[in-house]
Amino acid sequence: MSAAARPWWREAVVYQIYMRSFADASGDGIGDIAGLLARLPYLHELGIDAIWITPWYRSPMADGGYDVADYRDIDPLFGTLADAEGLIGACHERGIRVIVDLVPNHTSDRHHWFEAALAAEPGSPERSRYWFRPGRGRGGELPPNNWQSRFGGLAWTQVPDGEWYLHLFAPEQPDLNWANPAVADEFDSILRFWLDRDVDGFRIDVAHGLMKDPELPDLAQHAGAEHNGAGSHPHWDRDEVQAIYQRWRRLADRYGGERLFVAEAWVAGADRLARYVASGGLDTAFNFDFLRCAWDAGELRAVIDRTLATLGGTGAPATWVLSNHDVQRHITRYAGSPADLVRGTRRARAAALLMLALPGGAYIYQGEELGLWEVEDIPAELMQDPRFRLSGRTRDGCRVPLPWSGEVSPFGFSPAGAGSTPWLPQPDAWRAFTATSQERDPDSMLELYRRSLRIRRSHPALGDGDLEWDADAPANVLSFQREPGFRCIVNLSTSAVELPAGADVILASAPLAGGRLAPDTAAWLQLAR
Ligand code: GLC
Repeated sequence: MSAAARPWWREAVVYQIYMRSFADASGDGIGDIAGLLARLPYLHELGIDAIWITPWYRSPMADGGYDVADYRDIDPLFGTLADAEGLIGACHERGIRVIVDLVPNHTSDRHHWFEAALAAEPGSPERSRYWFRPGRGRGGELPPNNWQSRFGGLAWTQVPDGEWYLHLFAPEQPDLNWANPAVADEFDSILRFWLDRDVDGFRIDVAHGLMKDPELPDLAQHAGAEHNGAGSHPHWDRDEVQAIYQRWRRLADRYGGERLFVAEAWVAGADRLARYVASGGLDTAFNFDFLRCAWDAGELRAVIDRTLATLGGTGAPATWVLSNHDVQRHITRYAGSPADLVRGTRRARAAALLMLALPGGAYIYQGEELGLWEVEDIPAELMQDPRFRLSGRTRDGCRVPLPWSGEVSPFGFSPAGAGSTPWLPQPDAWRAFTATSQERDPDSMLELYRRSLRIRRSHPALGDGDLEWDADAPANVLSFQREPGFRCIVNLSTSAVELPAGADVILASAPLAGGRLAPDTAAWLQLAR
């Protein structure tokens, strides 16, 4: 496919905005649309193609906005619907596409549908939009089955009249019943609402969870995870979910303009993931196997090969992702044990060059371009993640507000003199990691991302396409070529390796040691034609 004929998303670099933590213009310590708008020049300069904005809809914020009370309005914390429309327009003026987050698995417990369900009788049409069931046991005092919430504890909560409702996440996030046609109709209308506002795509939250076995059978012991792999798990990755996405595909195609659907689907391997992007369905899916992979040459190569082989069969492009708002930041993941952030950072720099050289699209999670790590010392009383309350495990450490400038918190996240504190505390050490301090430093993470994205945009070998592994690469070195004339080498071994003769280094993640590539370093090479 010629570059001009390919849909933009086949090779897009998408930057994830976790709105609460990106930039705060109102001064309340929580990021907002006006803050994001003011930082568009930064994103433009970074060189990304699109932004994905995590949920900005009206929400009681029991799960950072993944509990939506009104899908057609913006939460006042973030701004207004007019602000959102203005932002979409401003992004488009700068050539940045906008992907919004669609949350179809559950609503907020404050959504008017759920309020109506609570007010209605058991067996009513209002209740049938969710999963209400009588309990088990003599007086219905036991939950309808043994399903567990993803955040910990039972997946069922009892309401005053004795029925129970299903929530695979927090109790404030009741699961919708997608077997009820009213639910599908409502989401058609929500998709149209945002397509009419010219969004370029949707990230589908919990895309693997929408369909449930209508019998709601007990889970067999140890079958609680996504890892079923057969399409018949009672609530994860059931084959029937694909019909929903085929319907959305048809709907979006009527709008024209290459609208993107990207699935958040935690499934058992590349084969299962390929189903989401098979012809007539969604366009791409986050490649969590890459994110979950250890810093190990053999494992990375296996994931890359498996990804390209299985997705290749569907015609969909691969995506590559290292971090997001749900997982420990990758610098910390790569820091090893005992944790060594210098080592983690070195590997993260090499990983960025690896990711951006692979065929397909890539996702950058805000702050990874600043070299931010997981904040692991947030005091328990300041934790906001509902998962912390339900299981003691928190995702707040990767959601800390970004440091933009200055020497002390809020580091330009909120306006000077706002008097508020950021909604999660920022480490003092981030004074050396602000965007402004990195801007003038050629060795900074920010400059590495800027340069690599600039090269990626202009180099004809990068983006969509294939790769060929170098058969002569030394042990524990990933080396692959992309045509025309490009090679990426990543040294995951413990000793420095020679670079091929006659190649120009166009970018390296660390200084070359006498022309050799040090351990945990990556280089991009231009090969002689
Ligand atoms: C997805 C989101 C996560 C959220 C959950 C429930 O996994 O990425 O942040 O908590 O869905 O909506």
